[in-house]
Amino acid sequence: MSNQPTVTYVPDIRSELVSYPARSGLRIAAYLDHPPESIALNRVVVLSPKYGESKKNNLQLGYYLAANGFTVLRFDFTCHFGESEGSMLDFTLPAAVDDTLASLDYLEREHGVSEVTLLASSLSAVTAFRAASLDVRVKHLMTIVGVVDLTFTLKRVYQEDLIGGYIEGRRYGVLDILGHEVNMDHFFDVTIKEQMHTLEGTRAAMEKLRCPVSFFPAANDAWVRIEDVETVAAAAARAEIHPIEGAMHEVQENPQAAELTLRKVVEVCRRHARPDSPDLDQLRVPERKAMFRQNKIERDRLREARPLDAEEDEFWGKYLEKYRVMEKMGDYQEYVQLLGGLLGKFRDGEILLDAGCGNGLFGVWVMRDLLARQKDSLAVPPMYFGMDLTDSGLSDAAGKHTGVQSLFPDADPVGLMYTRVDLDLFGSDQVPPAEIVQIADGTFDKIACSLLLSYLKSPINLLVQMHRVLRPGGRIVISSMKPFCDLSSIYRDFVEEKADRTDVESARDLLRAAGAIKTKQEQGYYVFFSAEELTDLLTEAGFRSPQAFNSLGNQAHVVTATK
Ligand SMILES: C[S@@+](CC[C@H](N)C(=O)[O-])C[C@H]1O[C@@H](n2cnc3c(N)ncnc32)[C@H](O)[C@@H]1O
Repeated sequence: MSNQPTVTYVPDIRSELVSYPARSGLRIAAYLDHPPESIALNRVVVLSPKYGESKKNNLQLGYYLAANGFTVLRFDFTCHFGESEGSMLDFTLPAAVDDTLASLDYLEREHGVSEVTLLASSLSAVTAFRAASLDVRVKHLMTIVGVVDLTFTLKRVYQEDLIGGYIEGRRYGVLDILGHEVNMDHFFDVTIKEQMHTLEGTRAAMEKLRCPVSFFPAANDAWVRIEDVETVAAAAARAEIHPIEGAMHEVQENPQAAELTLRKVVEVCRRHARPDSPDLDQLRVPERKAMFRQNKIERDRLREARPLDAEEDEFWGKYLEKYRVMEKMGDYQEYVQLLGGLLGKFRDGEILLDAGCGNGLFGVWVMRDLLARQKDSLAVPPMYFGMDLTDSGLSDAAGKHTGVQSLFPDADPVGLMYTRVDLDLFGSDQVPPAEIVQIADGTFDKIACSLLLSYLKSPINLLVQMHRVLRPGGRIVISSMKPFCDLSSIYRDFVEEKADRTDVESARDLLRAAGAIKTKQEQGYYVFFSAEELTDLLTEAGFRSPQAFNSLGNQAHVVTATK
């Protein structure tokens, strides 16, 4: 007999937008998700947002729980990314604890709920441990990849002891932490005063807990040591550890592990809330359609609540200043080498289009490779054509490329051309021809769209145009960061390559800036594609024989095809 649970689909979860005061007086915004029949007030789960994320990222988990009979309160912290009030500059962990307790107050005041399950992921776990130790209304605490030792985790992420530095008197002012500017000195000051920065502090919270705790640590988490989870669990009166096999801190990076975790969380939640339930082997799954619909509503609300503060060209101009250090990273060199290899050797006079070329780092690789192989020098030199939205990126690219050429004075120079263009408008009949570069059919022999398509409004339109301007038999290579990629792993690899101090600092700046891209992804402006999605886009645009690869420290998908 199979012990797989039988699956039933639940079509219609309801989500109600609610708002209540935080203990600071600011307003907290939240959604109550519940099964279609009713609000089940004896089975309530409170979901804390992850650091730098909003309640929208808990939507899937919330809907799974609601499909299985729970009522779920998904809230946004105040002074944090999301819809609740306050500026993220003022975000602190003790205030996040207060917001969690204010959420319990709301449930009790408005709905008479006096018992909840509290579920938190990653850094928010630190706040959930504390909240549960202070409030007996938390009857079951669950953490997914929960951070238990903040000092250790920050050290792992940034490869520098930020908290130790603060204790020794270093001051940081306002720092961009994963895309959000936070007043770090204030943040550290109150975290340390409240003893929320150490394993010892978490252990102490655990000793005060009366409720059972279920930990879901990722088996391959570089940020959280499993032995620390065991230490903390040993201090709790009742604890279970359910390791997530095959997963890193960003569990969703492994879709199978993520799906299994979702199911396991629901099962554990049900077992604790209703141990006598007759239907524990019946897994109910929310219908995707309802989830997508709600996701869109919340994405639009998030765009309105947190409007963009820069135009795209300004945003990318700033980002590219930080991006230069990529060139020094082994993972990036391996990546550009893969792109170059897939596009193949140049023949006489061939033209490469580097669409969204940024600072021209791929062009640098191409030129070095071409010029270093002077022995097979060509009768007609090839040509590189860089297109990008940013003036600063293009002038940086031109400077770098001529710099490379000057290293090879005896070689025939590669032809260089650059143009500033919004590639979302390329080929559009909405734009007068004089306002945008015009390119004839079949002009290019090779096209690279490296880490570009994710940032366009209509990647398929650009690919259709790329198909038009590529010659028959020509080759294209496209790429995207993986959905749920972990950029800190590229940074970690770089630090382990023993880069010098200035480079490590530049890489840390880049890691911070990359958080802003993730935020825009959460608001639905950017989309990171799976290998299948990239392949489908190429096929839809008319390309043939797509082949997919992983690269960039296994954080990006690369797909190549021909015309
Ligand atoms: C992550 S960077 C990648 C740069 C480079 N291709 C690489 O792989 O190193 C993304 C690039 O896409 C460019 N970009 C974003 N939106 C664009 C648009 N609508 N038109 C042209 N370029 C765009 C940015 O300016 C930036 O240079």
